[in-house]
Amino acid sequence: MLADLTALLGARKVRGADPDDLAPFARDESHCGAFPPAAVVLAESRADVEATLRFASERRIPVTPCGARTGKAGGSLPIRGGIALSLERMDRIIAVEPGDGMMVVEPGVITGRVMEEAERVGLFYPPDPNSWESCTIGGNVAANAGGPRALKYGVTGDYVLGLEAVLADGEVIRTGRRTLKGVAGYDLTALLVGSEGTLAVVTEITLRLVPLPKAVRAALCIFPDATAAARAVAQVLAAGILPRTLELLDDQAIAAADSRGPFRFPLGAGAAILAETDGDDPESVMAALVRLGEIAVEAGALDVLVAQGESQRRELWATRRQVSLALKALYPRKVSEDIVVPRSKIPQAIERFKAIGREHGLQVATYGHAGDGNLHTNVLFREEEERPAVDACLEALMRETLALGGTITGEHGVGLAKRAFLPWEQGPVLIDLQRRLKATFDPLGILNPGKIFPEDR
Ligand code: MLT
Ligand code: ZN
Repeated sequence: MLADLTALLGARKVRGADPDDLAPFARDESHCGAFPPAAVVLAESRADVEATLRFASERRIPVTPCGARTGKAGGSLPIRGGIALSLERMDRIIAVEPGDGMMVVEPGVITGRVMEEAERVGLFYPPDPNSWESCTIGGNVAANAGGPRALKYGVTGDYVLGLEAVLADGEVIRTGRRTLKGVAGYDLTALLVGSEGTLAVVTEITLRLVPLPKAVRAALCIFPDATAAARAVAQVLAAGILPRTLELLDDQAIAAADSRGPFRFPLGAGAAILAETDGDDPESVMAALVRLGEIAVEAGALDVLVAQGESQRRELWATRRQVSLALKALYPRKVSEDIVVPRSKIPQAIERFKAIGREHGLQVATYGHAGDGNLHTNVLFREEEERPAVDACLEALMRETLALGGTITGEHGVGLAKRAFLPWEQGPVLIDLQRRLKATFDPLGILNPGKIFPEDR
């Protein structure tokens, strides 16, 4: 297979003879393990993707598309071997059209570059997954990624106007449009966004950009415990304030972040909320933040620290953004979930998750995007022998999430990590309908097989 693939695409674009070249494509940032592909294709153009998929279709070889492999659900792991199809080299910004409020990019562009390019022309690309400095926009589209600012601005899919994609048999399709509005036909763009590379391989993305807010202010509210913090989140939103972020950190998230700096949390901090308001008028942005701080104090906050200037604001965010890494340094095998519960259920959820951890002899940390109910529930452990207890704990967490009216994933996707849980959330009719959709797009089942749905029948 390798020799034929090399003859088709050229040696520069194909890897496979040396296992060291395959190793980086065997893993992502999930806890799912290592699955080396038989070959890696480093696509440089849509034509390379077309040729690879035609080749794979003819030989019925599995193809797993991937970007920067920063995913947390195992979505880009080549679990059936075959070809890992990397889109990283397709990293051109094709067009920035400020007049039309649009940008056209290839999937391998780093998300941070999309944000910078938008800001360069005075516009804003709001989705901000925590890994924005290293993840690719194609990966964000595959998982329909979100981030802290999703509270006010929504997730990746809210900014995708159209896609160019290659089907499993090598046919090229263009979905959606290059206009801000448009309702022609089924919304196949929405179907492809979040489909985790199981329906088609995206080769071009048309993004919607919005005006860049002129003023942003941040504050860190310190609470004695997570229940008080969760209460504050509900009260801020009930008061009609819509901050762009309301990020929660519980005691363990604080301890982990505090151990690495740059920000040092005050003694007695049992939970914190990182809130940010934005808009065009600096005074009203500050007024909203002050009101938010007052509500936090009414809900039990011990202190409200308003960031003085841009460097303090960045320091607070650097602290929040390293929570995942800081916890991983302490608990190298930790599993990070991304469940969502109705906002009103957050206090209950946090208490129940800690209790479930205790019942399984494990610690559970919770942090994340509390404003929209999207919590990173982390099961913390260090030794592989604890794995059976961890698996039982994860199952109990998922069951509890669903019992609270929530969903198993809000931003990382189902991938491999959560495919066993999908039937708990969606009944057999819905799963069967989705399998039939998959078969329509990919009749041979070569595209990212084994993902999203439980074991293929
Ligand atoms: C985050 O918000 O920090 C990320 O989604 C990563 C995670 O902790 O799971
Ligand atoms: Zn997150």
